[in-house]
Amino acid sequence: MKRFLMPLLAISFVACNSAQTKTEPDALAFNPDAYTEETLVMPGGDTIHYRAYENIYFVKHVADSAYQTLNFYVPLSANEQTPIFLRTYVGGYMAAKARKPSPTDASGRALQEGYVLCIPGSRGWNSVVEKNGEKHFTGRAPADIVDLKAAVRYLRHNDHTMPGNAERIITDGTSAGGAMSALLGSSGNSPLFEPYLKELGAANERDDVFASVCYCPIIDLEHADMAYEWLYACTNQGIRALSPEQQQVSEELASAFPSYHNSLGLKKADGSPLTIDHYTEYLKSFLIQSAQRALDEGCVIPSDIGIVQERGFVKDIDLPTYLTYVVSTRKLKTPPAFDAQGVLGDFQTPENKLFGDETGSSVNFTTYSCAKTGNTIDEALQTRIWMMNPMYHLNQATDKAKHWFIRHGARDRDTGFSVPINLATKLMNQGYPVDFALPWNRGHEGDYNLNDLFEWINGLNP
Ligand code: DHB
Repeated sequence: MKRFLMPLLAISFVACNSAQTKTEPDALAFNPDAYTEETLVMPGGDTIHYRAYENIYFVKHVADSAYQTLNFYVPLSANEQTPIFLRTYVGGYMAAKARKPSPTDASGRALQEGYVLCIPGSRGWNSVVEKNGEKHFTGRAPADIVDLKAAVRYLRHNDHTMPGNAERIITDGTSAGGAMSALLGSSGNSPLFEPYLKELGAANERDDVFASVCYCPIIDLEHADMAYEWLYACTNQGIRALSPEQQQVSEELASAFPSYHNSLGLKKADGSPLTIDHYTEYLKSFLIQSAQRALDEGCVIPSDIGIVQERGFVKDIDLPTYLTYVVSTRKLKTPPAFDAQGVLGDFQTPENKLFGDETGSSVNFTTYSCAKTGNTIDEALQTRIWMMNPMYHLNQATDKAKHWFIRHGARDRDTGFSVPINLATKLMNQGYPVDFALPWNRGHEGDYNLNDLFEWINGLNP
């Protein structure tokens, strides 16, 4: 009897084992039943009813439980084909939690328009976990975009059980969040992120998105100091009032911008080269359009801010006067605006912290500031800088969003106008449809003119 039992036991052990691997639970599976029914009252009084799926971990190996979750909201009218509006609340390159929809921004409006809504959290430069009494900064670059990509992969992984269509993800963010949206739109399936996503146990799926909405994206960080000083040089002797040392830094940075700009090889809409010699006129054309729309909508534009008007038409812009007006509404950053650390004092910007490491260090990330401080950019840091720059990804064989909506307020001084303008221009040069504007009298803000945004979204075709 015993002699027969052994082989039988062995067989059943093997069978049992293989059954176990077959039924191993999917740690990233979406539970369609784990929802609550909620409502949101919109400013106009409309009440929206939706299912709320909240606090869903989107990676298997959670590095920071405070941030690596997503919330998912499904209006009752949604089905499998409904596009998914993905709103990130990243600001200042800091960590952002998964939030609830707000009636006063694009998240609530997206639900009202019938879109499925996803609000993922993500780590940022300030996210910290304590291990054995030591602080670990878990969100240094590229952690924030890695988390958002992991969230996109989660949506794709569960596309068959989640309402909404993960092939129709529309991302939206403001400022550093606008940068995240631009990164999601420009770096789809980039192999650079693969090791980070693997380490987190993100779903093994694609992470490209369908459309990207970027409000005042703070991007091209390694070139933004030059762009800023080149643009605002005309205010240095006037309203900006720089010290002699600051003036020197400003001049050095400004003088480096033309060759960087020319190296981009951008073209105007008529196909002619957009070199630095044409840049002032090009910038003015967007500001003129913006002021003209404001006049057409009944706004009154003061006569002393450089907008030359004649019988309801904007004829020209006196740029130094206009930029002086911009700076009067909010003081400029001091040079260097982004990579400040150690150049004229110890001041550390969010960007210096972003590129630091797990110990909480801050580092220089531009060749200019490194030359001043004696710091260097090694290969690993260089790769992280590239990972955070949509302008870099646009030159790579990544999968790009098919549709772009980019806004930067006409009096937003957080980065130079050339930064969003060049993002939009590069995309247009590559053949992508881009809805781009510098909306009048808007500062550093996002999710405004939602009628414009949702008219655009509602009109998107695959
Ligand atoms: C943000 C603003 C900045 O001026 C900046 O340098 C980085 C981020 C922001 O609002 O997200």
